[in-house]
Amino acid sequence: MGGVQMSALAIAVSNAGGIGSLPCAMLTPAQMRTELTAIRAATSKPYNVNFFCHRTPVSDEVRQARWRAALARYYEEFGIDPTKIAGGHGRTPFSGEAADVLEEFRPPIVSFHFGLPPAPLLARVKSQGCTVLGCATTLDEALWLESRGVDAIVAQGFEAGGHRGMFLSDDITTQAGVFALVPQVARAVKIPVIAAGGIADAAGVAAALSLGAAAVQIGTAYLLCPEAITSPVHRAALRSDAARYTAVTRLFSGRPARGIVNRLMKDMGPMSELAPAFPLAATALAPLRAEAESRGDGGFSPMWCGQNATGCAEISATELTRRLAGRLAE
Ligand SMILES: Cc1cc2nc3c(=O)[nH]c(=O)nc-3n(C[C@H](O)[C@H](O)[C@H](O)COP(=O)(O)O)c2cc1C
Repeated sequence: MGGVQMSALAIAVSNAGGIGSLPCAMLTPAQMRTELTAIRAATSKPYNVNFFCHRTPVSDEVRQARWRAALARYYEEFGIDPTKIAGGHGRTPFSGEAADVLEEFRPPIVSFHFGLPPAPLLARVKSQGCTVLGCATTLDEALWLESRGVDAIVAQGFEAGGHRGMFLSDDITTQAGVFALVPQVARAVKIPVIAAGGIADAAGVAAALSLGAAAVQIGTAYLLCPEAITSPVHRAALRSDAARYTAVTRLFSGRPARGIVNRLMKDMGPMSELAPAFPLAATALAPLRAEAESRGDGGFSPMWCGQNATGCAEISATELTRRLAGRLAE
């Protein structure tokens, strides 16, 4: 889970018998090396390394100007000079440089969000012996991923927190919940399916397995664990009734992602077209987010969260993983 964890959470989950994951979309190659070194030193169990594979769009100055104009009243309220906003959007797609780092560490599992990297890069990862996972949000995406040689498919239901992995369509009406998606994908593909979205306890895990999943992927439930680096405003929202109200929004990055409804989402409408294409929307929001957060205000922060936050608990990720595994661990 990019932005809310580094290696510590992955290590705890792997050592507890799950498969911890290191999100790399927001890491530089140097940071990746540091975190992967930490994982290798702390566990001999399998772990996963996760990347985004979007194509970074050319910045559209007209759209950027329109976005900044839409945010102008907030810049004024928080005393921000929009002419001084630094560049950079914080998310880079899987690249040759990242593949170089993987070659040094040869992680057991590599997963991709937003489709797959270009064929030569994917071939490089596969040639290192890594098990490759791809994320599907529709049956079409699952079949596309299978035909390109992934080893297993994450079937991400609409309940899931964070970015929708959708990549063949940007039509949000194509997105189905776990109960609809997982059985359809499991019937149609020959490779294992990993159910994701809304799973928050051992009963949810068992339900997903009975739908045909071979495993589950859980994000939201880990957000309050001490090993996560979830921000104070995000933690406060997760602990409150606010976590009962999530929506899919493109405001924070330019791509649909599920998070706790906050002021920006209410003011602009969560799917407003004003936000520039992924990942460029984040740049203009960064100073607002930082200033608001410094005042304890999460109104401009992406507080990613799935539809079922009832599994969030302030317990170690070790304990949480054991609880989620329930009878599976016996
Ligand atoms: C805070 C947060 C950050 C996430 N970041 C990523 C990410 O960087 N890469 C990714 O593939 N999925 C990411 N996800 C999605 C998860 O991998 C997973 O599909 C989702 O959390 C499952 O649904 P749940 O949140 O209801 O458990 C993120 C989810 C959350 C809640």
